[in-house]
Amino acid sequence: MIQTHEGVRGMKGRDFLSMTDLNSAELTQLLETATELKAQTKSGQPHHRLAGKTLALVFEKPSLRTRLSFDVGMFQLGGRAFYLSPQEVGLGKREAVRDVARVIGSMTDAIVARVNRHSDVEELAQFSPVPIINGLSDLEHPCQVLADLLTIKERFGQLAGLKMAYIGDGNNMAHSLILGAALSKLNITIIAPPDYRPSEKIVAQAREIAAGHSTIEVLSDPVLGVRGADIIYTDVWASMGQEEEAEERRVIFAAYQVNDNLLEYMRPDALVLHCLPAHRGDEITEAVLESKQSSVFQQAENRLHAQKALLVHLLS
Ligand code: CP
Ligand code: NVA
Repeated sequence: MIQTHEGVRGMKGRDFLSMTDLNSAELTQLLETATELKAQTKSGQPHHRLAGKTLALVFEKPSLRTRLSFDVGMFQLGGRAFYLSPQEVGLGKREAVRDVARVIGSMTDAIVARVNRHSDVEELAQFSPVPIINGLSDLEHPCQVLADLLTIKERFGQLAGLKMAYIGDGNNMAHSLILGAALSKLNITIIAPPDYRPSEKIVAQAREIAAGHSTIEVLSDPVLGVRGADIIYTDVWASMGQEEEAEERRVIFAAYQVNDNLLEYMRPDALVLHCLPAHRGDEITEAVLESKQSSVFQQAENRLHAQKALLVHLLS
């Protein structure tokens, strides 16, 4: 659902399945909360804003950052998270998705779900009495984009008016970045091989949000796409679940690598981002990942602060 009105409504009790579940004002406020919580965490100031609250983590796919950030985040906020592995839950296999939603929702205050099919987070949201947070689906990865925008804001002091180039697969990351950019008035260019462009529906949705404020471009020429960009972002060429396509994609995406040569066409101080995990030598070279321009580990740390802000807004 596109949030067209600009005001900050109460976020309590709402789901977060897509970047479009927030409007621009709410996104700005959430990033401010993340900055505040980061400062409190760094200075060792207790901030038990979710004392006694519980969070279930239902994951169908592996995770390092998403799981850890929500788990540690709940602990630091005075609550507790409970991880449920795919073997235990068997989402839609051992038990119907709607039944899982009702059972977990009867015992906890919110659910983070990482699923194979986006329709499963939608069904969880439909039947759960508590908020559902999309911890990655085949369509979107909105939690990651909260941390990405926080990292960009920390570096440039603002989001509006910047240009981000995303190079690679038009996947879940690309989709949430396009929508997050539109909400933040950030210009974005997606550079992808012709058959791997992002969903036209999401691009159209983003253009509607961005209308008159920023541009959303999709093209296939890396050099043309990165020109003048302040930020270059990439992700794996084969996402979780696409492992059998990895070899084929390595050939198709060969010209879409973030390397020193590509950076030549950008501003000399352009920021390099990657959601991680990274495949060094595929979508990004070791030299670029480890370079001064790369802020990928600050970006990974920001998952913690961004996810805490999200939890505070949805649960308190
Ligand atoms: N970036 C990200 O979501 O990492 P994980 O898959 O390790 O959670
Ligand atoms: N596109 C990747 C993102 C990992 C954080 C995947 O879905 O595997």
